[in-house]
Amino acid sequence: MPRSPRPLRKVFVTRAIDPAALAQLRAAAEVEVWPGEMPPPIRQLRGALSHADAVISMVTDKIDAPLIASAPRLRVISNLAVGVDNIDLEAATRAGIAVGHTPGVLTEATADLAFGLLMATARRIAEGDLQVRAGKWRTWGPMTLLGRDVHSATLGIIGFGAIGQAMPRRAIGFGMRVLYLARRSNKPKAGRYGVATAVSLSRLLAEADFVSIHVPLTPETRHMIGAREFSRMKPGAILINTARGPVVDQDAMVAALKSRRLAGAGLDVTDPEPIARRDPLLQLDNVVITPHIGSASIATRGRMAAIAVANVLDVFAGRLPEFCANPRVRLRPTDAASSRPANDR
Ligand code: DGY
Repeated sequence: MPRSPRPLRKVFVTRAIDPAALAQLRAAAEVEVWPGEMPPPIRQLRGALSHADAVISMVTDKIDAPLIASAPRLRVISNLAVGVDNIDLEAATRAGIAVGHTPGVLTEATADLAFGLLMATARRIAEGDLQVRAGKWRTWGPMTLLGRDVHSATLGIIGFGAIGQAMPRRAIGFGMRVLYLARRSNKPKAGRYGVATAVSLSRLLAEADFVSIHVPLTPETRHMIGAREFSRMKPGAILINTARGPVVDQDAMVAALKSRRLAGAGLDVTDPEPIARRDPLLQLDNVVITPHIGSASIATRGRMAAIAVANVLDVFAGRLPEFCANPRVRLRPTDAASSRPANDR
């Protein structure tokens, strides 16, 4: 008897992504793309996932245990991000759903932005631009907009994964001294980062002119920089955060900025996101904030989309995504025809 054709897989994509990547996905599956600029509301997301085999999600989509429980066909959550803190990994793993992500391709773009924020905050670039636009550039001033030197300063890197390790490559061009604090699993090979010295958190805070955060958000890293850490920082230091907002206790950061113990902050991430219009951070002139655009270069977002699609196609081909955030998952069967776990890697 001829076998009935396999039904076309359904993929929900929660925002428009790179067209070339979408075209590749459309060649293999029935694809629905949420058309809005804003993320789909939970009701629509739940509705879409109730019959989807795969979802390409964004950091703005909270994929929690109840949502996962309401998605009986879902086999892969492919996040267009390296971070997966928006997804309940344990619930996905228990349900037999692979979680894909996009490490590697966004390393350099994110480090570029971190360094850009460092420069902008130290040299008051955004403040200067605002003054010019407001017609306040009346003359050259010997004491106008004096900032901090970047060259020859000490950079302290908290978190020495791929993005943390990309920072010394930039710092060396500015003649900076580099200190870093690595999580145990991320210690680079000896000698690979000759300019960077591993130190304790307290030494890093005491000596760094710039502290740049590059840890993922986990229960252990939530609020890892709070009032105690700010009080241990070198007076006049500048904080850069391109990782996740909740790694920093934002109230404590506002207090440190107000007291000028912290000379400035360059932030690509806040808690919450987007930041409220009346948030006290927005009242401070020693803060530069960008709207979570660390990986937002044309080429990088294209590569991220290609990986997100490939991660979905891997699962449709019966294997784990090449970039899998929960590699111990036992994939749930595709349909009634298959009852064995589908992992073949
Ligand atoms: C990530 O990849 O985790 C970023 O925050 C989104 O680009």
